[in-house]
Amino acid sequence: MGFATDCIHAGQEPDPTTGAVTVPLYQTSTYVQEGLGKHKGYEYARTHNLTRRSLEKNLAALEGGSDAYCFASGLAATQAVLTLVKAGQRVVVSDNVYGGTHRLFTKVLANYAIDFAFLDATDPEALEQQAGRFDMLWIETPSNPLMKICDVRRMSELARRQGAVLVVDNTFMSPFFQRPLALGADIVVHSTTKFLNGHSDSVGGVAVVKDAKHADWLRFVQNAAGAILSPFDSWLVLRGTKTLHLRMPRHEENACAVAPYLYNHRKIERVLWPGFPDHPGHEVHKHQATGFGALVSFDLGSRGAAERMLARVRLCSLGESLGGVETLISHPATMTHAGYSPEERLHLGITDGLVRISVGCEDADDLVHDLEKALAAV
Ligand SMILES: Cc1ncc(COP(=O)(O)O)c(C=O)c1O
Repeated sequence: MGFATDCIHAGQEPDPTTGAVTVPLYQTSTYVQEGLGKHKGYEYARTHNLTRRSLEKNLAALEGGSDAYCFASGLAATQAVLTLVKAGQRVVVSDNVYGGTHRLFTKVLANYAIDFAFLDATDPEALEQQAGRFDMLWIETPSNPLMKICDVRRMSELARRQGAVLVVDNTFMSPFFQRPLALGADIVVHSTTKFLNGHSDSVGGVAVVKDAKHADWLRFVQNAAGAILSPFDSWLVLRGTKTLHLRMPRHEENACAVAPYLYNHRKIERVLWPGFPDHPGHEVHKHQATGFGALVSFDLGSRGAAERMLARVRLCSLGESLGGVETLISHPATMTHAGYSPEERLHLGITDGLVRISVGCEDADDLVHDLEKALAAV
């Protein structure tokens, strides 16, 4: 089936009891059993929930995976995937990942004798030289918030040579624009909180796999560790993915208006968006994705300038998160990437003047007008 058909139908057969078109919300903690060991395949809701399972099948189809497992947040999905790594093993991570991922790796999982190496993954040769032996390679492309691009195919060759697992956090692109499993990745992770849900009303995460041994392990961990996505959140994300193919082109159309406007603004020092021909990695991105997405970062030169601008936006909402139909604007240094030390941020280029915008689905003219008024105050 085509992508749009999968968005609307994959994993969502009409309810066998009533014929309901929409997958019902199975808001139950347990299921009545007929006798010992005699039941309908549903024993307890941490282990089995049909609403969550429908979403998992839907997301597996959209990413082209064999199966998917949903968790209580993007970070819970990340943590579940990291249980594939054992004490003494090494994980190479692209250096500019979401601040929460960096915090989980360096402040929590590093305590379990896992060795994390954060390296620039924009140059595959340099990465290979510096990486040494590793067991997992974790990348984000485009990265949050610097929009660094890594070549997923080259990374998958590198991982395969080492017998390592390649994980791609595909939150920024969504499967509408980029499908890393088809490019050679082993596992795709999403914060479903973002474009997949799309309505800024649910927090969740998913890991999509293609290999049966990864599926078996993640199914086991989902039940054994228990950080499941709730039935209601699953139902909300299922509602969201039905319109993913309609929302994403609109997000990008608006980004195509906002990004060049910012690029030409005299008060802005640099604009980071993979759609610009001079953006580092633009060509690589064009070969591995079908669009440039709706995340744009720009530098106003100082924290004061960023603060003045952010205080004056009205239509764009100042807040963490991204991927909702409403435009969200944020300040990575104090919000999403506060988990990095000031030195780490400086080294990466997450400056105090950097602002990140997740362009929504409003009228592009209204967004530009709002930014224009806010920038006048800088
Ligand atoms: C790229 C990326 N990955 C993962 C996460 C974590 O997801 P969650 O907030 O749902 O735990 C985020 C959150 O902003 C993100 O931007």
